[in-house]
Amino acid sequence: MRNDWSGQTFPHPSGRKPVVGDALGTDVRAPLQSTMRRAEGLGPIFEMQVFDQKFVFVTGAELAAELADESRFEKALSPALVALREFAGQGLFTAYNDETNWTLAHDLLRPAFTKAAMQRYHPVMLAAAQELFDSWDSREGPVDVSADMTKLTMETISRTAFSTDFGSFSRAEPHPFIPAMIAALQAGQRKGSLNAMPGAGLMARRIDRKNAHHQAYVDSLLDGIIAERRTGEADDCDLLGIMLHTPHPETGERLDDLNIRHQILTFLVAGHETTSGALSFALYYLSRDPAVLAKAQAEVDEVLGPNRDTEPTFEQVAKFRYLRRVLDEGLRLWPTAPAFTRSPRETTVLSTGHTMRPEDWAIVVLPMMHRDPEVWGEDAGEFDPDRFLPENARGRLPHSYKPFGTGERSCIGRQFALHEAILVLARLLHRYDIAGDPDYELEIAERLTLMPRGFELTITPRTPARVAAAAEAGQAEPSEVCPVSSIDQPGFQATSHGCPSGSAK
Ligand code: HEM
Repeated sequence: MRNDWSGQTFPHPSGRKPVVGDALGTDVRAPLQSTMRRAEGLGPIFEMQVFDQKFVFVTGAELAAELADESRFEKALSPALVALREFAGQGLFTAYNDETNWTLAHDLLRPAFTKAAMQRYHPVMLAAAQELFDSWDSREGPVDVSADMTKLTMETISRTAFSTDFGSFSRAEPHPFIPAMIAALQAGQRKGSLNAMPGAGLMARRIDRKNAHHQAYVDSLLDGIIAERRTGEADDCDLLGIMLHTPHPETGERLDDLNIRHQILTFLVAGHETTSGALSFALYYLSRDPAVLAKAQAEVDEVLGPNRDTEPTFEQVAKFRYLRRVLDEGLRLWPTAPAFTRSPRETTVLSTGHTMRPEDWAIVVLPMMHRDPEVWGEDAGEFDPDRFLPENARGRLPHSYKPFGTGERSCIGRQFALHEAILVLARLLHRYDIAGDPDYELEIAERLTLMPRGFELTITPRTPARVAAAAEAGQAEPSEVCPVSSIDQPGFQATSHGCPSGSAK
């Protein structure tokens, strides 16, 4: 048995069968949601056995908070992440903690997420949002929210990080890179989930054969971008420029071309679906609750004024405090990267009494930890942005909210995602009235991340008169700078390789 926890056992869902273990009850198209259902009543830690692979899941907030203690625990790679390494190699997300490429890339790329860097990305983010709105203004009928948010976030990350335009808004279909990238990554995931089954090798080879042309296309496109930039004009300011032209300040080391390809892919993947899902869930909840929507619109109207074409300045993004709470609450219920995995640095005994060795790992299931009634109350399943009011958040169990992961391997793009998402929500709600189909029931697609499926919005342009009326009727809160906003986070450094601030790449 792999990950056998020295033979210790945990509660498991009913219906375990010889050989297959608990595999049969899992919905392969929605494994997270079926795991959440099957976990009910099993307590803060449980196991599922899939052939000879044991998965241990943590759902209780207190135990998850214990695993967040960096002095005792660190990131581990689940079988799914190990499988992704075939494609994303030692990219930041899939690197093992002790791989030198992780330290090198982390040290080199952190300056690309400073406040100064974000100021440079701000106009690029605004321009991508405007292109989306232009495309909405030129068509009729409801918009497919997840699809359009995905186009937007893909353009934003590719333009800011690699100065590459995928032309998403001028095409009827997504750029061929996108389905190829998704197919290749899903092939990796499928191989990861088959791993424990008898005959896995044969099935993996079949998947590889079917996937070979996707993988080859993605690799050659990314290698082409790298080659073009190597021979073209030096540009040290975007992520690719930093990776190509900046040596490590202390060791002088540089990333090699294969690792740069893996990092580009990592950033394209990690940097778009997660944010697009976060935006889509926020819009879903906004469209379901007229009072929440009115409050959000009153806030944007107060900050941006009556002209629906006004774009927020960099500093104004921090003033959308209510929007930030809406986003936080959406990510509490549906954290779009819904799990991470932890192992102890040395053999340790958990507060549950279980012994955990460095080779053991446990998956923290974020949507369950984020709904633990001990921390979030009996109404934990309800959407209520006011949970994140400072007075309500004060005194809450530390480490009980982790949509961006934990510790030194937590999300490097957190500030980027928050800035982008708040900016887009603000512009969208300022510019349009939104209405969902009242009969729509939230359905969640599990791709690499979580995303509403089939969720459409009817959008209607707001006129200055409507904006003014809404502002008058609204309850906007005083728009002082947000104490928990993206740009005020500790660790947000003010330097960035000396790249000019304010100039868009
Ligand atoms: C709402 C949006 C986002 C969410 C919910 C999210 C969530 C996460 C989580 C949970 C992790 C930790 C995974 C683990 O421990 O295994 C992570 C890591 C990471 N994220 Fe994000 N992310 C978001 C946006 C972004 C963006 C916009 C970027 C890039 C611009 C990005 C780049 C990364 C990278 C490179 C890592 C790996 C960091 C490392 O291990 O050093 N993410 N993210």
